Amino acid sequence: MSKTFIIDADAVEKGKTRPISVGEHKLLVCNSGGSYYVIANQCSHAQARLTGGKLRGHKIFCPLHSAPFDMRDGSALGPPATAPICAYSTTVEDGKVFAELTEGQ
Ligand code: FES
Repeated sequence: MSKTFIIDADAVEKGKTRPISVGEHKLLVCNSGGSYYVIANQCSHAQARLTGGKLRGHKIFCPLHSAPFDMRDGSALGPPATAPICAYSTTVEDGKVFAELTEGQ
């Protein structure tokens, strides 16, 4: 596991998501009320991209069937998803967003 620069924090507006690829990782950076989360950009239900999913606190709602996920740990919080998504430990330093990316996820 290593801390990887993902994106400048000001490139993701409050309440918005931004897809980005870092190496083999297809990521989604989320800015929920000024808190940043980096998650895998793929729903566990029918593999839809989570880009543009609505953000509420630490939750993101899949844009396809509205399953909610906890962006802190990736857990599925309601139907139709039952499996978690990947969520990465995220920090912001000097206006830059970093995530602890894990191999193979
Ligand atoms: S693809 Fe995300 S809830 Fe169905």
